[in-house]
Amino acid sequence: MIYFPKRIELELSSFCNAKCVSCTRVDIDEDNGIMYYNPFGVRDLNLDLEFLQEKFFYQPWFKDVKSLYSIGNNGDPMSHPGIAEIYREAKKHGRNLELSMHTNGSLGKTETFEELAEIITGFGSSIIFSIDGLEDTNHLYRAGVSWKRLMHNVKTYINAGGIATWKFIVFKHNEHQVGQAKKLAYDLGFKNFRISSNLMTKEVAEKKLQKLWKTNFKLVKEVKQVSGLPPPHGWKPGYKQPKQLWIDRVELEPECTRDGWFYVTSDKRFFPCCNTYYCSSDNYKEFYDWFNEDGDWNDLTKYSVEEVLKHKKMYELVSTFDKPKINRLCAENCKK
Ligand SMILES: C[S@@+](CC[C@H](N)C(=O)[O-])C[C@H]1O[C@@H](n2cnc3c(N)ncnc32)[C@H](O)[C@@H]1O
Ligand code: SF4
Ligand code: SF4
Repeated sequence: MIYFPKRIELELSSFCNAKCVSCTRVDIDEDNGIMYYNPFGVRDLNLDLEFLQEKFFYQPWFKDVKSLYSIGNNGDPMSHPGIAEIYREAKKHGRNLELSMHTNGSLGKTETFEELAEIITGFGSSIIFSIDGLEDTNHLYRAGVSWKRLMHNVKTYINAGGIATWKFIVFKHNEHQVGQAKKLAYDLGFKNFRISSNLMTKEVAEKKLQKLWKTNFKLVKEVKQVSGLPPPHGWKPGYKQPKQLWIDRVELEPECTRDGWFYVTSDKRFFPCCNTYYCSSDNYKEFYDWFNEDGDWNDLTKYSVEEVLKHKKMYELVSTFDKPKINRLCAENCKK
């Protein structure tokens, strides 16, 4: 294997109840402020326990995995109805496994949060709640997230002994609330409060949100599209010109080889990291075309973890890290 998997990220679910505009689930037509599903996106799938047991938890190398977490690009892990059982199983087969996840906090049953509070314990483990503001502002970006439900889940989890982190993304509409949110976080029993940088510049966020507030986050029906293929004829929103795949070398600190990163998509494919799996039309098509020019070698329903980590594409990718031309996504995400 090119490296041993040490840090496994599972996109447990590609379902979500929210409509955050910078998420890969959705795109916005900037002319009219209407949201569309990203035609490159994978949606509404859950990873099943049997698959995870066979491919990961029952494997001899799994006991040496350091961390297992679920963030996901296309969904919220708390959408998965079996999440507590999956985390419990993983913990049983791991040794000092750090467990964590990121969630908008408004999905999941009360009992599930109680169970997770028992399971997600120990150094480095936590549920990271993405809460971008207070009752009057969180939904201005996190459209569809009920504050009442979010607070219920947070309190259930923390009162059951759960380790929680509040992650706050700053926008123009919530920047004045950072101090208040921090105070509320510690009053509620969060262990950490973290400010996170926004993927969008303030100007872009403001422009898009102003439009969405006017349409009340109107989302038109799904555009049928198979992941990885070019956008359908006539597709307009969000589709921009292809970008270069290989660019001039920059000094890298590759997280995949450094940490043994192994990313599993909700449709059971392998990518070395979440940065190579964003499903966005303009940014990633060239990478997908190159990554899969030999076929479906990263399909984990057909191949084992060992097989994908021995595949020549992975050697090719890693061998470029110190070549004069490197992958653009690596340069953007793992620059030293
Ligand atoms: C796509 S989300 C999936 C996990 C979960 N649904 C959530 O939102 O926390 C993955 C991560 O992206 C973060 N995120 C969402 N919008 C962002 C933005 N505009 N800038 C930076 N991070 C963002 C979320 O807070 C989360 O930590
Ligand atoms: S809550 Fe997370 S997965 Fe859901 S739309 Fe927002 S960023 Fe995407
Ligand atoms: S962006 Fe490239 S270098 Fe960084 S972790 Fe992903 S594959 Fe590795």
